[in-house]
Amino acid sequence: AFSPLSTRLRKNLADRGSNVRSLVIGIAGGTASGKTSLTKALVKEFKGNTAVVYLDNYYKSHTGLTYEQRAALNYDAPTAFDIDLMIEQLRQLIDGNPIECPVYDYTIHNRSEEVQEIAPQPVVIVEGILLFVFPQLCELFDIKLFVDTDADERILRRVRRDMVERGRTIDSIEKQYLETVKPMHDLYVEPSKRKADIIIPDGVQNLVALDMIINRINNYLHSV
Ligand code: ADP
Ligand code: C5P
Repeated sequence: AFSPLSTRLRKNLADRGSNVRSLVIGIAGGTASGKTSLTKALVKEFKGNTAVVYLDNYYKSHTGLTYEQRAALNYDAPTAFDIDLMIEQLRQLIDGNPIECPVYDYTIHNRSEEVQEIAPQPVVIVEGILLFVFPQLCELFDIKLFVDTDADERILRRVRRDMVERGRTIDSIEKQYLETVKPMHDLYVEPSKRKADIIIPDGVQNLVALDMIINRINNYLHSV
């Protein structure tokens, strides 16, 4: 019978003698493309059956640097993330174990003191700009979704969000966008779209795409 699990993941699980099988969905896309909005729509639809892991929580911590020094770092390159920790924790979660995930605080450009316990669930959603740049992460995804939103809409949304939610000034947003966010998007995020299984224009507003994804997850939940 058709299995929703990737061949690689099935093999990984079999190698470890595990019976636990989560459907793992990767949601990537540029900054402010609508990844979190799509993730939240799926979490709401499948109440209690989803665990969410955000790539942003695995930004490296920079305790030795001042706020100004941290603000000047490149947060849009693959090297900004502790990807080994993320892969290790994601494997744990898919294997059916709870994890203690770091929690990132954008207002201080650093990891917070908190950790968040995430319990294993039949559906695991992983969200983040650069997910599909990392081959070892891609191997863990059964379905790879890329939210595709025009750059002009994304920067408009980002300005508003970063000022309201992330404690930024318009000057800092402009500088960061031109110096790192946009060049890294062109270098890494946009090419990684080719790794996606499905490209979703406009994210959560795309009701046809949302309906297809929800149906796919429902099929999976009814098969386990
Ligand atoms: P991402 O997770 O990709 O950074 P979010 O889902 O957090 O994107 O969206 C970024 C901002 O844009 C948020 O403030 C959100 O409310 C807003 N937003 C998301 N989707 C839409 C949309 N379709 N239309 C208008 N605003 C949106
Ligand atoms: O939610 P979104 O996908 O936009 O989050 C990723 C973005 O967060 C990156 O484009 C990065 O520039 C930004 N970021 C930031 N400051 C940090 C860490 C990340 O502006 N300290």
